[in-house]
Amino acid sequence: KTDPLVLFMPSGKRGRFPVGTPVLDAARQLGVYVESVCGGRATCGRCQIEVQEGNFAKHQIVSTLDHISPKGSKEERYERVRGLPEGRRLSCSATIQGDLVVDVPQDTVINAQVVRKAAVDRHIDRNPPVQLCYVEVDEPDMHKPLGDLDRMKLVLEKDWGWKDPLIASHIVPQIQGLLRKENWGATVAIHRDMDISRPFIIAMWPGLKNEAYGIACDIGSTTIAMHLVSLLSGRIVASSGAPNPQIRFGEDLMSRVSYVMMNPDGREAMTKAVREAVNGLIGNVCEEGGVDRHDILDAVFVANPIMHHLFLGIDPTELGQAPFALAVSGAMHYWAHELDIDINRGARLYTLPCIAGHVGADAAGAALSEGPYRQDRMMLLVDVGTNAEIILGNRERVVAASSPTGPAFEGAEISSGQRAAPGAIERVRIDPDTLEPKFRVIGVDKWSDEEGFKEAAGAVGVTGICGSAIIEVVAEMYLSGIISEDGVIDGDLAARSPRIFQNGRTFSYLLRDGEPRITVTQTDVRAIQLAKAALYAGVKLLMEKQGVDQVDVIRFAGAFGSFIDPKYAMVLGLIPDCDLADVKAVGNASGTGALMALLNRDHRREIEEEVKKIEKIETALEPHFQQLFINAMALPNKVDPFPKLSQ
Ligand code: FES
Repeated sequence: KTDPLVLFMPSGKRGRFPVGTPVLDAARQLGVYVESVCGGRATCGRCQIEVQEGNFAKHQIVSTLDHISPKGSKEERYERVRGLPEGRRLSCSATIQGDLVVDVPQDTVINAQVVRKAAVDRHIDRNPPVQLCYVEVDEPDMHKPLGDLDRMKLVLEKDWGWKDPLIASHIVPQIQGLLRKENWGATVAIHRDMDISRPFIIAMWPGLKNEAYGIACDIGSTTIAMHLVSLLSGRIVASSGAPNPQIRFGEDLMSRVSYVMMNPDGREAMTKAVREAVNGLIGNVCEEGGVDRHDILDAVFVANPIMHHLFLGIDPTELGQAPFALAVSGAMHYWAHELDIDINRGARLYTLPCIAGHVGADAAGAALSEGPYRQDRMMLLVDVGTNAEIILGNRERVVAASSPTGPAFEGAEISSGQRAAPGAIERVRIDPDTLEPKFRVIGVDKWSDEEGFKEAAGAVGVTGICGSAIIEVVAEMYLSGIISEDGVIDGDLAARSPRIFQNGRTFSYLLRDGEPRITVTQTDVRAIQLAKAALYAGVKLLMEKQGVDQVDVIRFAGAFGSFIDPKYAMVLGLIPDCDLADVKAVGNASGTGALMALLNRDHRREIEEEVKKIEKIETALEPHFQQLFINAMALPNKVDPFPKLSQ
């Protein structure tokens, strides 16, 4: 007679186990991640599972509640004291009695923090580097003169399989007190993803400790974004963002590098500023989540190369000039306190690898999240900021580059431009007959014309145009014939509509009369043309390297991508021709990648390996880039067709 078959969902892993095997043991043997802190003593409640009833024909399994053992006294006690949700069982106590389909509840859902976009749900398989292990240590015995730590290590090996772990030195003086406080019961946190192969005790508490947290952080030049996550359930407890205080040293990356070059204390000041901001943000997420910051045991960071270097305390000067040499490109491991990050004294800190001097750990995070290297189809992944980071590839081969798009897409250098915030115009339509505009303003939930606009202005105070609307307004101006293919505003139209007016030697379009007056000038149109040409030329260069004249899937990472309408991006020739249904914004993909690396150490290995394989293309060194750039100045492009647009 064969042993019962057990199928774990959602992983689909399955195997046969003798009757009486605890479900937790079966999960372990199959490599299904089920958390357990108390080591099967039915006290931590972390190992919960659900049994699915029914006939699973494909797997030839009939799963019923009779196929799992009834609750024993320990499990009942847990239920009485702590409560167990309906249908849930403790997998350390419940044993296999027949064929079973077991659901491992996954609490991980990423709510991508995008201001104006609905939450994105994402499932991450968990295998966090930190594990909490409850131990009951033998009391000292005069006949066996083994130290407290050494007896604890014996239990860690016997109950948890951790052979001779190392221990953070600050814990050693506390061991005696910690063990005696709760009658020789204690919880230790083991970290198993350090730059050494041995497990490491990084924290310790008296008695049963049932929760540990981690942070995933994306340090952008403008904004720092952070998730606070339960390492045991994978649940995001709080998310927050704050402006990067380095802005006071320079708006964009290059000006921050110059600041370092010009000021002897510049590097130090900026490192301090960003670390303080990170600590401040940790305070915010902890307050929001009701978490003690000392319960944070692990932290993952992504950042562009210059932010990455400044955060680690490395002089970024080399990144400001060819050959854009990184001081370190691989993933880095630290003690959090070495970088002045104020969390648990034994907490660890991990940074994702950088891809190249211009394509940082943030791009690596986005690559981990979207996985171009996991695709059959050719995927284009772009993160647009003042530099566009571009990754193109599939299973076979991935290439990456960055292109200097400048700040126009973020609304800087545009006469009426501003960052996306309440009061900014975010959508624009222009009537091709009358040339009259209609707008939508962030914070006002309807389309307005000039009249409605006054109302909107009263409500939120209309202040300017945000990056996404600049794309739209230039595209609409092109579609309504106000600007030509080479981007010139047609002055002849001034006779037809007062919206077109002379402005020095060129013409402008009046988007809104009133206070403030919002116009689109010829210089604005040029700035957008330059930015979009830089992006497109970078993409095109990578397409040539890949030998393709079409991409199958486009993913926009970052805030900018979340707000632009793909159709308009294509009308302007910002991105290559593609089925619009295959163009998607994915929010802060870098942050998602950081979260994946926090919750699963396999993802760390994955991206470390993949980054080594990504081919880096330096646009500045490609003589051909200039021609591609010139072609891309035209709307949508001088040479490339956009057949999907007319469909
Ligand atoms: Fe702790 Fe099951 S492992 S309750």
